[in-house]
Amino acid sequence: MSGKVSVIGAGFYGSTTAMRLAEYNIFETVVLTDIVEGKPEGLALDINQSRSIEGFETKVIGATTTAEGAGYEATANSDVVVITAGLPRKPGMSRMDLIGVNAGIVRSVAENIAKHSPNAVIIVVSNPLDEMTALAQLATGFPRNRVMGQAGMLDTARFTNFVAEKLDVPVGSVKTLTLGSHGETMVPVPSRCSVGGVPLSDKLSPSEIAELVTRTRNGGAEVVALLKTGSAYYAPSAAAARMAKAVIEDSGAVMPVCAWVDGEYGISGVYLGVEARIGRTGIIKVVESDLSADELAELRVAAKAVRAKQADVQSL
Ligand code: APR
Repeated sequence: MSGKVSVIGAGFYGSTTAMRLAEYNIFETVVLTDIVEGKPEGLALDINQSRSIEGFETKVIGATTTAEGAGYEATANSDVVVITAGLPRKPGMSRMDLIGVNAGIVRSVAENIAKHSPNAVIIVVSNPLDEMTALAQLATGFPRNRVMGQAGMLDTARFTNFVAEKLDVPVGSVKTLTLGSHGETMVPVPSRCSVGGVPLSDKLSPSEIAELVTRTRNGGAEVVALLKTGSAYYAPSAAAARMAKAVIEDSGAVMPVCAWVDGEYGISGVYLGVEARIGRTGIIKVVESDLSADELAELRVAAKAVRAKQADVQSL
């Protein structure tokens, strides 16, 4: 066991992420923080009390912070920081509706992280994801490889689940991929989807695939509409925790993440959902794959839309 990971925001997403990270039993310490006094301490205590049952030695530390930065000493010298602070959606809201309020939160969190953990790799999950990732990089001034966002692994997992359910096959036999933004311009990549090694297009008709693509694109909203208060956190936290694990283990795993794109796919100067190799330095490399002409065109449209929005966050 080694390393320290801090999870900022002890809401549903943050607390489940902290729990998953602790249960991996690979980190020395998991720190969970929130601005609601006592909440992170209480949740840390609760998770620690599950240690003998679940069989992990990782210690979870809860710390109340203020927006001004008091309490951040607990996170000092973290190897990885997961930023989950921010409001979730309510039914009928788009992720973009959160941009004003969450930009203020993410900016102040990022500045405090940069002060106390200057060498950390940051994983952003607050929404709207692509914009908050770009903002966290700006606010920390960290090299771009050390700031990434979680979205693609979640969207891919949703797509995979829908395909597996539709065909009634084990989820482990299904491979899917989504790129682009975590929102309107999400780009599912049917040409990279397969079931038991057979192309998805041999298993489902174009209209059936299109139906699952639409459901994937609206995957978060479908959960929000059912919950009525708050948004999804089990699948999102699973994805964020896996990314933090890949960093601390320096695994080199290739995952769909929100990463800085600089020339790949003929796209530059934007944080966008792409596949990337993840390790101790964050993004080791953006991995390009063969896309169909349509998919590539959609990815470029997504890049354009996200780039315009990311330019706006500088002033938020
Ligand atoms: N510092 C630390 N924590 C903060 C701050 C801050 N400056 N501002 C708000 N928080 C905390 C809140 O007190 C709350 O406990 O962030 C937590 C958010 O928790 P939830 O409301 O349960 O939201 P959650 O489901 O965890 O989603 C968090 O992830 O998926 C995205 O859209 C979602 O942006 C949202 C984020």
